[in-house]
Amino acid sequence: MSSVRFDPSGPLRGGLRPPADKSISHRAALIAAMGEGETTVRGYLDAADTRSTLAAVEAVGARVSGAGAATIGSELTIEGVGLRGAGPASIDVGNAGTLLRLLPGWLAGQAGGSWTLDGDDSIRRRPVDRIAEPLREMGADLDAREGRLPPLEVRGAQLHGIDYQLPVASAQVKSCLLFAGLLAAGETRVVEPVPSRDHTERMLIAAGAEIGRKVGSRAPGSGEEDAGARVVTVQPAERLEPGPIVVPSDISSAAFFIVAATLVKGSEVELLGVGVNPTRTGILTILERMGAEVERENDREEGGEPIADLRVRAAPLQGTEVGGAEIPLAIDELPLVALAACFAEGETKIRDAAELRRKESDRVETVSAALRALGGVVEPAPDGMVVTGSGGLRGGAIDSHGDHRIAMLGAVAGLASAEGVEVEGMDAAAVSFPGFEADLASLLG
Ligand code: S3P
Repeated sequence: MSSVRFDPSGPLRGGLRPPADKSISHRAALIAAMGEGETTVRGYLDAADTRSTLAAVEAVGARVSGAGAATIGSELTIEGVGLRGAGPASIDVGNAGTLLRLLPGWLAGQAGGSWTLDGDDSIRRRPVDRIAEPLREMGADLDAREGRLPPLEVRGAQLHGIDYQLPVASAQVKSCLLFAGLLAAGETRVVEPVPSRDHTERMLIAAGAEIGRKVGSRAPGSGEEDAGARVVTVQPAERLEPGPIVVPSDISSAAFFIVAATLVKGSEVELLGVGVNPTRTGILTILERMGAEVERENDREEGGEPIADLRVRAAPLQGTEVGGAEIPLAIDELPLVALAACFAEGETKIRDAAELRRKESDRVETVSAALRALGGVVEPAPDGMVVTGSGGLRGGAIDSHGDHRIAMLGAVAGLASAEGVEVEGMDAAAVSFPGFEADLASLLG
């Protein structure tokens, strides 16, 4: 394991294009594999997680060319196997939770096939019951270790559509069921209590699938209208024709620089071509409420996704409350909100975020432990944490616990701290952002 030290720094200056969006890259590879003929994907993320997805689609018979050269701006071609053409395979998902949750939705509806999905130690602790349960309701034939953990065995079966109310907003579960719905008999209807990221819906619509979207739903039984719910429907499909796909820069990766530039006095950075899909921009709303200065420039749309350039200047912060519908819109950036809160005046409460405990690590525990080790005042709670601003962080040493976002959080904390931070397990950053240290260095001149 690599240990890297991040010393207190001078201002961050200059601009860069953060790496491609991980969520959109996973979906691009999967939907291209389901498609007919060749699909080009421009700017596919070249990172460990999304390499796992390319290997997975190759394992089921899709052909990928240009993979080795897939860096920002480069082009990848994927020759699909068609919606019902996935060959049997044993699939290593590595550390990729999104692949583990999305792929079974497609496989489960292909009668006659059989697949096993397994991954690294962290993946083996991540539950699959929340996809297995609704998939079984659709008629899927699945087995998991202890009923809920990988390895996951999928035997293809004829599925039928269901009307499913997600207990917790989850784009991974929603996407899995939409994929299964393409192969099921009749309509599949998924109701989210509050909206989660909608990249799958956008990409499936662009590929010709019949997807319906509506805000507000009547709760079963009571008939009461839930105005905040989002209903997504999918009709069975014969074929998908994705057309060229363009992947924007990942706001979740950009967020590390946004927070670094906000915290380190005198900083001003520009982040180019960042995906600003409204189901992903919770971090901007939260930081702006705390007093951050983030200007959005050159708003435009590419490949069905909104993008913009973001200019960030250092600014003093105040504490805030984060909860409810805001949580899914910022789920992967909540560790950074907690870090920023250590530098803010007053208290910050993060609640309704029990989901944080089911990520690459239990992020309530790993974030609280890391920030406390650096001098932060953080109280973990069952569904979030309470941070009392303490005018900054002293510094010290933290362990990434193999979680990419904790490793990069440690690096940002180091730059803004009084004494610097040693990050044990910095190599985990390569899961989503292999060039992170070099990009950070480029902003430090
Ligand atoms: C993701 C959705 C989120 C997020 C994860 C990626 C996706 O998970 O935390 O990093 O690509 O669909 P949930 O929607 O399951 O909370």
